[in-house]
Amino acid sequence: MPHCIAMAENPLMRGLSVTREPAEFALVIFGASGDLTSRKLIPALYGLFRGGHIRAFKVVGFARRAWKDEDFRRQVAEMLESSSGHSPSPALVQEFLRKVFYISSTFEDAGGYRQIAERFGGEPGKLYYLATPPGEYETIIGRLGAAGLAEGPARPSQAGAVAFGEQPSPTAGRFCRIVVEKPFGNSQATARRLNDCLAGAFREHQVYRIDHYLGKETVQNVMVLRFGNGVFEPFWNSRYIDHVQITMAETLGVEGRGAYYEKAGALRDIVQNHLLQLVCLVAMEPPNDLHPDSIRNEKLKVLKSIQPLSPERVGTETVRGQYAGGIVEGGETTAYRQEPGVSPSSDTETFAAIRLYLDSWRWAGVPFLLRTGKRLARRTTEIAVQFKHPPHLLFPGLRPGPALANALVLRIQPDEGIMLNFNAKVPGFSLDMRPVNMDFSYGSSFADDPAEAYERLLLDAFLGDATLYTRADEVEAAWAFVDSIRESWQEARPPMRFYPAGSSGPEESRALPGEGRRWRKL
Ligand code: BG6
Repeated sequence: MPHCIAMAENPLMRGLSVTREPAEFALVIFGASGDLTSRKLIPALYGLFRGGHIRAFKVVGFARRAWKDEDFRRQVAEMLESSSGHSPSPALVQEFLRKVFYISSTFEDAGGYRQIAERFGGEPGKLYYLATPPGEYETIIGRLGAAGLAEGPARPSQAGAVAFGEQPSPTAGRFCRIVVEKPFGNSQATARRLNDCLAGAFREHQVYRIDHYLGKETVQNVMVLRFGNGVFEPFWNSRYIDHVQITMAETLGVEGRGAYYEKAGALRDIVQNHLLQLVCLVAMEPPNDLHPDSIRNEKLKVLKSIQPLSPERVGTETVRGQYAGGIVEGGETTAYRQEPGVSPSSDTETFAAIRLYLDSWRWAGVPFLLRTGKRLARRTTEIAVQFKHPPHLLFPGLRPGPALANALVLRIQPDEGIMLNFNAKVPGFSLDMRPVNMDFSYGSSFADDPAEAYERLLLDAFLGDATLYTRADEVEAAWAFVDSIRESWQEARPPMRFYPAGSSGPEESRALPGEGRRWRKL
């Protein structure tokens, strides 16, 4: 059964069922013995295969371990066994495993790339997936280019030039693409360097920079809510909206990723990518059409409109924190500084709260309040659009303030849905009112479970739809804002605000929303 997809380039129109299936392809996973491959990629590929979305493909593991095809197949079988998402059927697993191959090589060794060319060079489609530590990216990209496997810039003079809006050549069924995992650089300078390196071997339309938040069903729904309905857009502006709150709270700590997290922190790990992408989707203007570049052009305008924060304003518009020991979901947890791989005097933030403004006609003066943290009271990601209170307080006893204002809350996860909070009269003879909710829940309104973000994103990469991937200029613009905060934090060293694990973050973040506003309860 071929994959059923709508309007080729258009994930928002999939309901219109046009039948399409990716060309036959080989997916080469660099870093095939790593954590991402076992936790996300292999289960997602199996899920797509099981659902009949991909049929003619090969999965090629590429890593240092001295394995043969059979060894890697055994590993893949174990990965499927231990992944919670699917209960694999033995016959289907066997069929899947026959499509799995392995190349044992270091990332430097040109011999490994020759093997790709010899064994899989004839495949009509080739997709390279960088699932290695980011330090290996440039080596792999360079070697792919040198081995003639990248099919990138036609002339060497084009290296370094990033062409947006360029379309893939219409050679039916043939493609060559590369997916780059996050972190994409750790500053604007390093992201630019990586973009230049990619542009030396690939054209921009071949490059897929992943941000798994964009693969979440509810994140895609932000655009449908705004532009697929007539009712919201007229009041989606500074005239009616008081502020927007975006929260991404986790109960998890760093989960054995201490060494990575020490160099990242909440700002680089979450704000630069996931949170700023959510800001883009909430704040962007309607695109002219659904071409990936039309959407990404609008998102880029949002990123470029973020008011830069001077070092002085970083002091008043941001709060950084780190979790101490505490109780999370009933269990005792240790402080961040005691986590494996973390320095006992670490200055890395596990919590960040930021108040930012967009310099645009639509959003002038509207604060966007961003907050993210690990080891918080509850796992939740949500966007709350908080409306202004009525201009004239007609009913007796009403005071302006958060309790009176309506909110539209987009629940990204868990319990995916949308809630509108408004005031209603309490039944009885007096004129009392109380906030009530109108609630839409994905779980009860749609029979199907939402697809795993990685399944959606991988399938889009196989089909050549880059809408849900970030473009070079978007990534660099997001880094520019994050760099300004990080540099000010490094220079001014504002005090680290410690918070007990299981709380809603540092006390000092409470005042950040400003007079008459408050964070939504975690
Ligand atoms: C990743 C971060 O990008 O997102 C992790 O590196 C974080 O630190 C994860 O835990 C959260 O993703 P999700 O989908 O569970 O919200």
